[in-house]
Amino acid sequence: MRAVCGIAHGTGKRLGLVPSMGALHEGHLSLVRAAKGQCDVVAVSIFVNPTQFGPNEDFAKYPRTFDQDCVLLEKEDVDLIFAPSVDEMYPPNAVTVVTVEGLSNKLCGKSRPGHFRGVTTVVSKLFHIVEPDVAFFGQKDAAQVAIIRRMVRDLNLPVQIAVCPIVREADGLAMSSRNSYLNPQQRKSALVLYRSLMQVQKQFEGGEHNSAKLIATAKEVFAEEPSVRLDYFEIVDPGTLGALSDVSQPALVAVAAFVGKTRLIDNITLRL
Ligand code: PAJ
Repeated sequence: MRAVCGIAHGTGKRLGLVPSMGALHEGHLSLVRAAKGQCDVVAVSIFVNPTQFGPNEDFAKYPRTFDQDCVLLEKEDVDLIFAPSVDEMYPPNAVTVVTVEGLSNKLCGKSRPGHFRGVTTVVSKLFHIVEPDVAFFGQKDAAQVAIIRRMVRDLNLPVQIAVCPIVREADGLAMSSRNSYLNPQQRKSALVLYRSLMQVQKQFEGGEHNSAKLIATAKEVFAEEPSVRLDYFEIVDPGTLGALSDVSQPALVAVAAFVGKTRLIDNITLRL
């Protein structure tokens, strides 16, 4: 991978990287298309990264659809697919990690201890292997974006971070590889995440800028869907992920909830 990326660099080509865990859907493909639009050579990594899964999480059953992913990426005319094995990425006794202190314990980091350390460690490894000019991430994982941006800034990594909007199903559900775990009933219940965000947006547009009140509205929406267990609903600064008591600046409204055993996330940004 280094050798082939080195050729791209040597010939002055702009190299884009889309990191992924595979089980590709239109959300991932939107990143690939953005990369194709801005870069001469596009690489997609497919690696289900064990270090970002907790001991009781879905690493073993995470969907792996490599052949289908390759077909999709070939259709998008992607130049390089990097699909290393776990052993290649983590040689025995690999003990060095990258942690973005503080930010890593916010939002999903609170309920998934160690998750963001796994993400920042593998993403920095991918950056060192590929040395992309630009790396593409989805706003779907808004905390991940904030944490990676901070890592890049703090460690002077020579890569530009591009962020693409959330791609949704026709009814509003944010696309996710984990949606494949949902049965038809759960698929319907899962819409409560989007509904709660839309209700908050509506109240905000109606003049309610107090975070506690906006969050209370969202919790009422969740109360109507008792089969879904809310993990968090927060209104935070999109850069620091710190809670905002009111929305007097752009604010990230982020939600995570369990639909059955499946943990789903979604978010919107409120702007005055
Ligand atoms: P994964 O969940 O496969 O997502 C890969 C990229 O696709 C992420 O940047 C994510 O935000 C983006 N994405 C997923 N669903 C999306 C949607 N509905 N709309 C727009 N973008 C979407 O995120 C990861 O993998 C991993 O943590 C990774 C960064 C690869 C590190 O292992």
